[in-house]
Amino acid sequence: MMGRFQFPRREPLQMKAFSFALALLVVPTLALAQNASRFDSGAKVFRLDGGASSYAFGVNGRGELQQLYWGGRLDANDKFPQARPKPGWASFDTSYNNTPQEYAGWGAGLFVEPALKVTFADGNRDLVLHYESHTSTANGFDVVLKDIARPIFVTLHYAMDAESGILGRSATIENRGANSVTVEQAAAAAWALPAGQYTLNYLTGRWAGEWTLNQEEVRHGARVIESRRGSTGHQSNPWFAIQEGPSNENHGSVWFGALAWSGSWRITVEKDQLDAVRVTGGYNPFDFGYVLKAGEKLETPVFYGGYSREGLGGASRILHAYEIAHILPRTAATANQTAPKPRPVIYNSWEATEFRVNEAGQMALAEKAAALGIDRFVMDDGWFGQRKDDHAGLGDWYVNKEKFPNGLKPLIDKVHTLGMDFGLWVEPEMVNPDSDLFRAHPDWVLHFPGRPETEQRNQLVLNLARTDVRDYILGFLDKLVSENDIAFLKWDYNRNWSEPGWDQLPAAEQKKVYVSFTDNLYWILSELRKKHPKLEIESCSGGGGRVDLGILRYTDEVWPSDNTDPFDRLTQQDGFTYAYTPQVMMAWVTDSPHDLEHQIRVTSIPYRMLSSMQGSLGIGADIAKWTPEDAATAKRLIAAYHQVQPTIVQGALYRLISPRDGSEFSATQTVRADKGQSVVFAFIHSTQEGRGFPTLKLQGLDPAAEYSLSWIEGKAQPGTPTVASGAWWMNHGIDFSDSFRGDFQAMAFRLDKK
Ligand code: DGJ
Repeated sequence: MMGRFQFPRREPLQMKAFSFALALLVVPTLALAQNASRFDSGAKVFRLDGGASSYAFGVNGRGELQQLYWGGRLDANDKFPQARPKPGWASFDTSYNNTPQEYAGWGAGLFVEPALKVTFADGNRDLVLHYESHTSTANGFDVVLKDIARPIFVTLHYAMDAESGILGRSATIENRGANSVTVEQAAAAAWALPAGQYTLNYLTGRWAGEWTLNQEEVRHGARVIESRRGSTGHQSNPWFAIQEGPSNENHGSVWFGALAWSGSWRITVEKDQLDAVRVTGGYNPFDFGYVLKAGEKLETPVFYGGYSREGLGGASRILHAYEIAHILPRTAATANQTAPKPRPVIYNSWEATEFRVNEAGQMALAEKAAALGIDRFVMDDGWFGQRKDDHAGLGDWYVNKEKFPNGLKPLIDKVHTLGMDFGLWVEPEMVNPDSDLFRAHPDWVLHFPGRPETEQRNQLVLNLARTDVRDYILGFLDKLVSENDIAFLKWDYNRNWSEPGWDQLPAAEQKKVYVSFTDNLYWILSELRKKHPKLEIESCSGGGGRVDLGILRYTDEVWPSDNTDPFDRLTQQDGFTYAYTPQVMMAWVTDSPHDLEHQIRVTSIPYRMLSSMQGSLGIGADIAKWTPEDAATAKRLIAAYHQVQPTIVQGALYRLISPRDGSEFSATQTVRADKGQSVVFAFIHSTQEGRGFPTLKLQGLDPAAEYSLSWIEGKAQPGTPTVASGAWWMNHGIDFSDSFRGDFQAMAFRLDKK
C-alpha cells in the first residue's frame, strides 16, 4: 500500500442503524427491505439484494466474472444458473468482447471499454482477469481476480445498502510481482444492461450555467462524459441515469450511478454492435499512468449504482435518501443521528461587498442579517493577506490588519452576540504569484520546470500531492480554526489545472498526481474535521465546479452556481436534484437584477425567496440597501422556511412540473417521510391569455389522511378547500389558473396532516 488515504467506510453496524432509522424517516415504503448477499457455490453465482433491487454476477466456464442481472428485486428463491459467456460474432468480435464482464482487463482482443489496462515492465500489455477467490463482507463481497499468468490481482468490492438497494463498487489493484507495472486505465466498476432501447440522462454545464439535464437515445458507439481538469468540473458531472425507452419522471425502469471522485474522471456509456449497453467509470485514462511498484496497490474511487421502477423521480429519491444516510458527514452534534441537521440559514457577504470587507462594514451587515432571522454569518473573500482584488494574497492566510486591525475576534464576537455563528471563506489549494507563499515556495505549484505557468484568475494551483504542501494547508487551516471561533468554512477552488507536473518524482511516476492530489485533499478535509468535530464545510468551486459523492463525504453542503438569478436557478436546481439532495443545495437570495454581466431581469423578493427556499436557504444580497418592506417580507419567509425546512431538504422530492425546455410553469413538492407534511412551490415565467397554470396534482401523500392547506406565499382561488384528503389533493388536484397569473410569479403552501 502506498500510504494512500483510505475512504472511510462506515462500520456495518453503524450502517445498519442509519439504514433502519432512515427507512422510517425518509423512505418508509422500503422499511421492511432486507439486505441479503449470497453465493451459490454450485452455480458460482453471487447475488446481492437491497431495497427494491437485485444484482447478480457469476464465474463463467472460462473463469471470467460475468454480470447476470441488475434490476427490480427478485424473489429470494429465484436461482441463477452458472454464467454462460455470450457467443462471438463472426470472426470479428470474440466471445470475450460480447460477454458483459464485471471488470474486464484489456487483453485477448477486447475492443469495448476495458476496466483495467496495464503495461508490464517487459512491454507486455495483455491482461486477462479470472476469478481467484472471494470473501463475504457485512454488506456484500470482496471478489479477487487475477491475470491468467502474471501476479496482478484485482479485488472487487461490492457493498449493497439494505434500504435503498444502492450498490457501492470499487476495485483494489495490486502488483504482487517483482517488477513495476504501470496502470494506464482503471475503472471503479463497469455496469451492464441487456440489449435494448434506452435513454441516457446526464448533466452538463459551464461556469454560471451548471446542471443542464441532457436526455438522448443511447446509440451505437460511446458517449463519454468526463473531466480532464484535475477536479470534477462545471462542464460535466459524474452522474448518469439510463431509462428503458423514453425518459419519464414518474414511471419505468431507471438505472443510475454516481462516481465518488473529485479529480479527473470519466464515465463511458457504450452500446455495442449487439445493442448491449455498458457503463464504465473511474479515473480518467487521459494522461493517466500510475506506477505500481512491487507489492503496491491502487484503490479506485467508489462507483455507486441503483435502480428504480418509478422513473427519474424515483431514482433521485433513492439517491437523495442514500446521500443523507450514508454519504454526508456528521458533526459532533449529529454523530449518531440518521441524518445531518438541516443547514443553518446563512448570510454571505460576497455579492454585497466583494473584496471590500472590513470590520465596520461586516458588523453592519451582521446586524441587518440577525434582524432577518439568519442563523449563520459568513464573511467571503478579501479578509486575508494583501487581498484587495483577485491579483494578490491567496496563500497568505493571515488576517489583513488594515481591514481588521484587531483580528477577526471583534467581528466574530459581534456575530455571536447577535445570535448567529460565524463562517469564513478560504481557497486553500491556490496561490497568487503575488503572495509571500509563492515568493517563498515557487516550486510548490503544479508546473513543468522551464515551461510557462498558465495563470487563471491570476492564480496557480498548489500541488497538494506533495506532502509538504498538504501539511502546510492542514497546518494553516487548523491554526485558523483553533484561534478563531469558526463554525463553518466556505472552501473555494477557482480554476482548473494546467501544466500538471510533479517534478519531485521520477519522470515515469509523475502522473500519479491525478490520484495523490485528490487523496490528499480528502485527507486534509478528514483530518481537519477530526481535529474540529463541530466544523462544517461547503464545497465551492466558482459555483458548482466540485460537486460529487467523493467531496460530499467531507463537506456538508455545496455552492451549486455563481449564477443566483432566481429564474435561471429554477432550471439549475431542477438539474441538480437529479443527482444531489436539496439538503446540500445552497441557494442565496441576491439583488435584482443579479450582478452578472448579462443579467437584466428584475424580480420581486417573494419570487427570489421562494426560488431559493427549495434548497438550503441563504441571503447574499446587499441587505444594507433593502427597504423595510423587503426586509419584512424576507423575515416573514425565513420564519416560514424554518418551520418546514426538514420537509423541504430531507423529504421525498417530486418534480411536479419541470422548468426545463422553456416551460412557462414549474412546481416542486416535498413530502416528509411520515407523510405528515408536504410543501409545494410553484413558479410562473409568464402567462399568456387563455393559458393558465395547470391543475396541480400532488404526489406521495397518504390518500386516506386529511390535510389542511396553509399558504406560505400566495392565495387560494375561490372554491379551493382548506382541508381535504390526500386522495383529493393527489387526484382532483388544485386549480390556480385564475388566481396565479403574470410574469415571474411564485407561490408556496404547505399541507399538514390533521
Ligand atoms: C467564487 C465563489 O463561487 C463566489 O461565491 C465567491 O466566493 C468568490 N469565488 C470569491 O472570490
